[in-house]
Amino acid sequence: MDIKRYLREKKEAVDAALERYLPREREFPATLHRAIRHSLFNGGKRIRPILSIASFEAFGGKGDGILPFACALEMIHTYSLIHDDLPAIDNDDYRRGKPTCHKVFGEAIGILAGDGLLTEAFKLMTSSHLHEMLCHDQRLVVDIIHEVSKAAGLEGMIGGQVIDIESEGKEVDFSTLQYIHTHKTGALIVASVRVGAKLALADEESLKAVTCYGERIGLAFQIADDILNVEGKAALLGKRTGSDLSKGKATYPSLLGLEQSRRSAEELVNSAVEALAQFGPEADPLREIARFVTAREY
Ligand code: IPE
Ligand code: IPE
Ligand code: MG
Ligand code: MG
Repeated sequence: MDIKRYLREKKEAVDAALERYLPREREFPATLHRAIRHSLFNGGKRIRPILSIASFEAFGGKGDGILPFACALEMIHTYSLIHDDLPAIDNDDYRRGKPTCHKVFGEAIGILAGDGLLTEAFKLMTSSHLHEMLCHDQRLVVDIIHEVSKAAGLEGMIGGQVIDIESEGKEVDFSTLQYIHTHKTGALIVASVRVGAKLALADEESLKAVTCYGERIGLAFQIADDILNVEGKAALLGKRTGSDLSKGKATYPSLLGLEQSRRSAEELVNSAVEALAQFGPEADPLREIARFVTAREY
């Protein structure tokens, strides 16, 4: 399959849906909507929503019922990037090929745009008129929202972000590094594939397999992000490189070196693909996305 084309087509579908779900720029309060749209559009790979769609379709899901959940995952991710870039966290001034949200709109609006996106994601997932095509038991929808909350919250992404910040400039052990990566980045990626599978009513065994897949690519994704921060091209990435080293961040390259980091990421991708062995060609997009995780230059 042509993975580049697949990613492009799914990204277009996600972008069109985000466009429908969010207020226009000129709506009141315009600064808020401009700040949100500045950070959300014209940049971003949409990997999390695409993973949820690929998983949904791999387990027989049909139609657009996945889109509100896919877009909610992207809104949560984008909020996390806006806040991650704030002076109090990573203090970055370049993201998705543009000046960061707080650089353009100021810190207060950056914080509030992030808050707005996070909250709006939950509004979207609970917009039951958008669930019609799914015809699911509402308990399943509640279960999915609970899962996303866990992944984005204290036991997931936020926990990881806290340890990431607290580890700056320190020598951390491997298990702390793994905690950071599996939580700050892995948790939302795992949730993305699980949400898709659950909405497609995948059975327990399939859910287990796709969870394994998600855990492995989730960790590989952050290792790749660490490697790209060392040897990637800022113009392709749309964000600054070399910053992990200058901030003393706990990363795979800083702890294990580039060579071993590349090997670890490759092994994780291979074992992620192995976790899907029981599935047929319907899981090919998931397999190709796994390979993209380490092959990517952006
Ligand atoms: C960057 O995520 C931050 C991490 C969690 C590693 P992405 O690499 O998915 O960034 P976008 O969404 O494409 O900008
Ligand atoms: C991002 O981690 C994780 C979240 C935003 C939750 P990083 O700080 O390593 O990602 P980049 O390199 O800024 O995109
Ligand atoms: Mg960070
Ligand atoms: Mg950062």
